[in-house]
Amino acid sequence: LGLERPDNEPIYNYEPGSKRRKEVKRQLKKMKEEFLEIPVVIGGKEIKTDNTAEIKCPHDHSTVLGQYHKADEELVQQAIENSMEAKAEWASMDWEDRVAIFDRAAALLAGPWRAKINAATMLAQSKNIFQAEIDAACELIDFFRFNNYYLSQIYQDQPASSETEINKMEYRPLEGFVFAVPPFNFTSIGGNLPSAPAVCGNTVLWKPASTAVYSNYLIFKLLEEAGLPAGVINFIPGSGREIGPEVIADSRLAGIHFTGSTATFQYMWEEVGRNIKNYDSYPRIVGETGGKDFVFAHKSADPEALITALVRGAFEYQGQKCSAASRAYIPHELWDEISEDLIQQVEDLKVGPVEDFTNFINAVIDHKAFKDITEYIDHARESADAKILAGGEYDDSNGFYIDPTIVLAEEPDYKTMVEEIFGPVLTIYLYDSEEYEETLKLCDNTSPYGLTGAIFSKDREATVKARETLVQAAGNFYINDKPTGAVVGRQPFGGARASGTNDKAGSKLNLYRWISPRTIKENL
Ligand code: ALA
Repeated sequence: LGLERPDNEPIYNYEPGSKRRKEVKRQLKKMKEEFLEIPVVIGGKEIKTDNTAEIKCPHDHSTVLGQYHKADEELVQQAIENSMEAKAEWASMDWEDRVAIFDRAAALLAGPWRAKINAATMLAQSKNIFQAEIDAACELIDFFRFNNYYLSQIYQDQPASSETEINKMEYRPLEGFVFAVPPFNFTSIGGNLPSAPAVCGNTVLWKPASTAVYSNYLIFKLLEEAGLPAGVINFIPGSGREIGPEVIADSRLAGIHFTGSTATFQYMWEEVGRNIKNYDSYPRIVGETGGKDFVFAHKSADPEALITALVRGAFEYQGQKCSAASRAYIPHELWDEISEDLIQQVEDLKVGPVEDFTNFINAVIDHKAFKDITEYIDHARESADAKILAGGEYDDSNGFYIDPTIVLAEEPDYKTMVEEIFGPVLTIYLYDSEEYEETLKLCDNTSPYGLTGAIFSKDREATVKARETLVQAAGNFYINDKPTGAVVGRQPFGGARASGTNDKAGSKLNLYRWISPRTIKENL
């Protein structure tokens, strides 16, 4: 029963000379020539304010892509009222009709919108074509399709009845509206955070990350084209500091769907706490935040597989995936075997703008990220407890470029081994293979986070030991694979501990959070 399980969207490779590559290039050129004016959208009405912000390419300071209009407190109030008005009709619509809209969105993104959304993600978030394709195209298409599929499964699940009574579960949306606050680093998360509560029958206020407004707005337009009724999702870009407290103080806040920094998430909890007596119902708070994701190698690890995992896991998208490998534990004898190749491969990664499809590394997202990351690199350069083995250079004269950097730490609690950096910096700690179990425990205790992690081992007993020791250290735990690149419907994604509420994105667990069921018993 329910909908048929969808296939994952195939990943295209954009090889030189291909029609797909040409189309993406055409879109890149067009977007750079045009100037996109991004309004606030409430109830389908586009609103321009006199408070705007420019959108530039992180990898090229001279290219302005457009500007967005910021919502103020008054517009936030308007958006909330409009959300509540749109709610009644949306919530009572047949679920098949709601699901059909997101199915159409998936088809539009798989087809005519694909090149455009990929190009937007490349230019405004500085993601190379391959990273854009797996994110903005494939992952978002998968989110739309799998949310539909899992929701249909939830709706089919009914309690037992008997000859004397009928029992039923009504899977109603929450009472109120949902606040969706996504990050810059995945366009797919930008699209999914408002869409997952919406497909369950909720109305949503969508505050995009200020560094991803461009791609997020295009997703919003795509949803409109797919037939999403006005007001179901209201688009309110602007300052989080202004918008957040205004939204959270409203008694009709029914949920928060967040991905971003730990500090912001904790601030939201505090604000909800401050307002706890005012709400019509307890808001559901769903969040995925920071990480200090690890790769742990046992002495039996396959050297080539380990090198690939470190290079791709740490440096794809400039290390700005929440899942990126940021610390590695490697036994001395294995290090002797891999270090030369690893360093060479990292030194060989091509750094440059997204328009050249051969560049592996592009720019980091903005000046703040550039400053924060390079401070860590400088710390390592100047510290007696660390050594930079690869990279270490940076230059923001044309764009926010940082070379992929490997730091070797003397101690397991060295600064870059412990703190979240969110950039292209991998810190390695070498351990004595006799101390495998102690080092696993050390890995478990080093960080308050618990998002992703990987064990590399060909020894079954050692693998099991790692799995048993690192129980809460990673909500997504990979065996002989890099800790990034979770696929919807295959590796449900989310972290524990300080990394979030672990309501796995793109799974039934996440959808349940946007549903407030009613149980009905009728005596016969
Ligand atoms: N889903 C993303 C990954 O696994 C965050 O890399």
